[in-house]
Amino acid sequence: MSSTGKRSLSERDARVSWHPYTQHALEEEPLPIASAHDATLVLEDGRELIDGISSWWACLHGHGREEIVTAMQRQARELDHVLFAGTTHEPAVQLAESLVEVAPGNLSRVFFSDNGSAAVEIALKLAYQRHVHAGEPKRRVFISLTGSYHGDTFGAMSLGDPDPFFLPFAPLLFQVERVNPALGEIPAAINRLGKMVAGVVLEPLVQGAAGMHMYAPEVIQEARAACDRAGIPLIVDEVMTGFGRTGSLFACEQANVAPDLMAIAKGLTGGTMPLAATLATEEIFETFLSEDRAKAFFHGHTFTAHPIGCAVALAALEINQREDTPAKLRAIGERIHDRLHEHLGERAHELALRQLGGIVALDLPTAKGEATGYLANQSLHLRQAAIARGVLLRPLGNVLYAMPPSCTTESECDRLGDVMLELIDLGR
Ligand SMILES: Cc1ncc(COP(=O)(O)O)c(C=O)c1O
Repeated sequence: MSSTGKRSLSERDARVSWHPYTQHALEEEPLPIASAHDATLVLEDGRELIDGISSWWACLHGHGREEIVTAMQRQARELDHVLFAGTTHEPAVQLAESLVEVAPGNLSRVFFSDNGSAAVEIALKLAYQRHVHAGEPKRRVFISLTGSYHGDTFGAMSLGDPDPFFLPFAPLLFQVERVNPALGEIPAAINRLGKMVAGVVLEPLVQGAAGMHMYAPEVIQEARAACDRAGIPLIVDEVMTGFGRTGSLFACEQANVAPDLMAIAKGLTGGTMPLAATLATEEIFETFLSEDRAKAFFHGHTFTAHPIGCAVALAALEINQREDTPAKLRAIGERIHDRLHEHLGERAHELALRQLGGIVALDLPTAKGEATGYLANQSLHLRQAAIARGVLLRPLGNVLYAMPPSCTTESECDRLGDVMLELIDLGR
């Protein structure tokens, strides 16, 4: 027996851990996960759950992929970590070359970091410092979308819709103009802000934390054209949507739009390691070149371009291309969607059943007077009900969704669909 005595993992956890997005006074004990393989999470007591949300939208090809584990081990033996200021290494350069090759448009520079919030933060800082270099420091109001979520650091929180996550921080957040993801809104906001506008930031096609809200590609096309007219950057946050989730490698491809800055994380390493990147055009990179050292981009994290993360990301990208992950995720999404549609019939429309790539979502009706949105009580009950049925789902308030990894089998997809149907009945 260990020095921890007879206490269970959950009891030990309750004494020392502070979990993300968790109300410790209300929520059930966390699930003790012992291991994972493919689309399966194995609990300490041997029970198995289907990872219906890809471990926070990250796990892309499945847990424990051999190619990824091998890349991790090989790189750990070769070069574990080295700072990335004044040095370079093969995994970082090779990954940057590969990302530039597959990225939309002419994104040609890769700035590495280690989480999605940081990747967004870096995009904001690059966009603003570029304006400063161009002698336009008053361009400091970013436009984002209502309901948007871009991460939990201060810049990312400022962009995001404050309700409900960021209300306590409101006095500390900088000014952002949020508009609906609808035609006409972004060009109008750009015109309104005139010489104050710094750039437009959006989650392309699907707003994840907003409740898998899907909107038309024309909104992104219109944003692109309006940014061009105003001479400001279009920043796309592909942290969730990137690497095939929406059925194409990057969601903005479905709008035929190339951004000036793009944030990626989560699926970059197949969802296995904390690695992120911000891609920029050569034009933006060049505005930082100067005889003046103070015009450098003063941003860097200890683990920028972490060699093991980069090696793993290369392996994940190779799987993506070899297996056509976007097509696999599309097939998974369609199967779950069709199963739900078949059983729901007319109700599918009422519940706003929707699917894009490997993402399937619907809105559960809420009782009169009951809280809606992320904090709706329904979500905690439904999460437990899903777990009891062998599936890990994490409803966003009254929004029930699935986004499993690309290795999810047909029978697992059917199980996911069936459990969602049962939860719909429970949520009535
Ligand atoms: C669209 C989007 N941007 C940024 C983030 C933040 O990423 P991270 O949690 O890695 O900081 C998330 C996380 O869910 C996201 O969905």
